[in-house]
Amino acid sequence: MTETIYRSGLEGVIAGDTTIGSVKQDGLAYRGYTIEDLAANSTFEETAYLLLHDDLPTQAQLDEFNKTLMGFRALPGLMIDALRLIPKDAPMMDVLRTMVSMAGHFDPVSGDSADDLRRRSTWLMAVIAGIIAARYRLLNNKEPVDPQADLSHAAQILYQCHGSVPDATSTRLLDLTLILYAEHEFNASTFAARIIASTLSDMVSAVVGGIGALKGPLHGGANERAMALLKQFKNADEASVWVKDALARKEKVMGFGHRVYKNGDHRAYILEAEMRKLAEQKGQMHWVEIYDAIKTPIVTKERPIYPNVDYPCGLTYFLMDLPLDLYTPLFVASRVTGWCAHIIEQAGDNRIYRPLSRYTGPEERKVVPIGQRA
Ligand SMILES: CC(C)(COP(=O)(O)OP(=O)(O)OC[C@H]1O[C@@H](n2cnc3c(N)ncnc32)[C@H](O)[C@@H]1OP(=O)(O)O)[C@@H](O)C(=O)NCCC(=O)NCCS
Repeated sequence: MTETIYRSGLEGVIAGDTTIGSVKQDGLAYRGYTIEDLAANSTFEETAYLLLHDDLPTQAQLDEFNKTLMGFRALPGLMIDALRLIPKDAPMMDVLRTMVSMAGHFDPVSGDSADDLRRRSTWLMAVIAGIIAARYRLLNNKEPVDPQADLSHAAQILYQCHGSVPDATSTRLLDLTLILYAEHEFNASTFAARIIASTLSDMVSAVVGGIGALKGPLHGGANERAMALLKQFKNADEASVWVKDALARKEKVMGFGHRVYKNGDHRAYILEAEMRKLAEQKGQMHWVEIYDAIKTPIVTKERPIYPNVDYPCGLTYFLMDLPLDLYTPLFVASRVTGWCAHIIEQAGDNRIYRPLSRYTGPEERKVVPIGQRA
């Protein structure tokens, strides 16, 4: 009989082996490369390849990967038709969840070998980016834009949203956030995807499950919530008053805290530095003042809580003029690579996830015939 342990929220419990990502107090690494190194010296496509194919690509491998991505970018006409049918006020994450599920009916890859799964992952990367951009266009009463060859994944998303090739700064910043968001070992959405994969269900179902988990404000939904919070204040003084009260009420501030990182999120440091440069460049430092007014009392508490990546990401996307509703879908556009890498890893050495629960319900009792129940 295996020894049973109970930890609320599975805190501190190791639920499986992985060679994909390592999340530690002192650093985050994807397949042995630190996030700082990848952020400075790789592109999102290289990082995605690393996650899906175990190592960084050669130029020839990257060219082939980009060619495959491009070949998968155009959405079937029936998917565009379906996008038109979804009510305009449906949240973008709900639309994405529905449409990825629908995309499964048009999966161009057959088979379930590791190579098939890698190819299907590349297709999902392309399709998810395409769905986000097409929906954004339709919401703005504009027709979806065909993909353009020779654009990076980040530039392609912005191009298909806005209909013009984006500037170098926006492309680089979106690319950076995609690298930072790509993988984070057994977080809630990745674990959800692995659980689904462990039943030998299909990759699309596992990714749809991941989207459902990521949507929540305690997980990926925090980037939208963090920016929605900043937008409530006209200036830093208003923000300072609010945060003091919020902390006194023990209210959770979105974009802060992490289950594993207790001394700060390494991704947040990288992105915050870039966000500050962007605000300066755009002459929008008043947003940074509000950002700091909320952050300072939280990081200087007796028991400090630090920003996670979602806090600077919200303001970065806002300064890039992206609408709030796109922030968590863009997280999906990146994290799909980590989910798929985990689904492939799970398939390679599978055992179904089946933990126990601690029963706290009523003692055993007898069924009273319905006519005699009070
Ligand atoms: C990320 C998160 C879900 C981790 O949850 P967790 O590991 O279960 O941590 P807990 O909720 O147990 O928090 C531990 C303590 O820090 C406090 N805390 C955690 N996150 C906080 C936040 N964002 N704002 C204020 N206080 C926070 C809790 O109130 C708790 O205090 P207590 O010990 O006095 O009760 C949590 O920090 C959170 O809800 N953050 C806001 C949402 C967010 O940004 N999510 C994105 C994560 S990348």
